[in-house]
Amino acid sequence: MPESTLASLAAHRLVPVVVIDDASAADALGGALAAGGLPVAEVTFRTAAAPEAIRRLADRGDILVGAGTVLTPAQVDAAVDAGATYVVSPGTSRAVVERAAERGVLALPGAITATEIQAALELGVTTVKFFPAGTSGGPKAIAGLSAAFVDVSFVPTGGVSLDNLGDYLALPSVAAVGGSWMVPRAAVAAGEVAHLTTLISQASARAAELRP
Ligand code: 3PG
Repeated sequence: MPESTLASLAAHRLVPVVVIDDASAADALGGALAAGGLPVAEVTFRTAAAPEAIRRLADRGDILVGAGTVLTPAQVDAAVDAGATYVVSPGTSRAVVERAAERGVLALPGAITATEIQAALELGVTTVKFFPAGTSGGPKAIAGLSAAFVDVSFVPTGGVSLDNLGDYLALPSVAAVGGSWMVPRAAVAAGEVAHLTTLISQASARAAELRP
């Protein structure tokens, strides 16, 4: 199950990172993600609306829904109970990774240094979030780390945009990239479906162009 979730994320190559203030906005967001051809969402636990938003998106049945900014085992439980199939964290927490394994979902913990990657490997993790990518050396840092960690793949997030997407996706060790530029918080809150659909379609078209 975690393996197939990772394969699906890697097939889409993009993970929209969502901050949602009111769970009812998830309905319009889900419509825009489906219409834009990118049925993937990482709903961050930065707002109290996250579990209910995950539930609404998961209930549609056509979106690969995960939770982001997951810092505690209790948040793993809340996310999985709501229908999340993957949990993403900014750093690497043994407690979070272990709870995700117990719940049978994919964990994507954050790691940006060689030491952090080794810590993730010791927990059985071979795909890490590389966050914040833009200020942590970007594609060059990932390429350097990949030379040593040949079996590790990365999901860079933080400072990724339509303009630099190609620099990340060109790296064979990059499984997918995440970002909020496709789903701006204000547009999600305002239910701007047409605007969101345009941003999401642009991103997914660009990722498709860059497919090796
Ligand atoms: C994340 O949690 O992955 C980031 O906040 C997304 O970063 P971005 O807003 O720079 O895309």
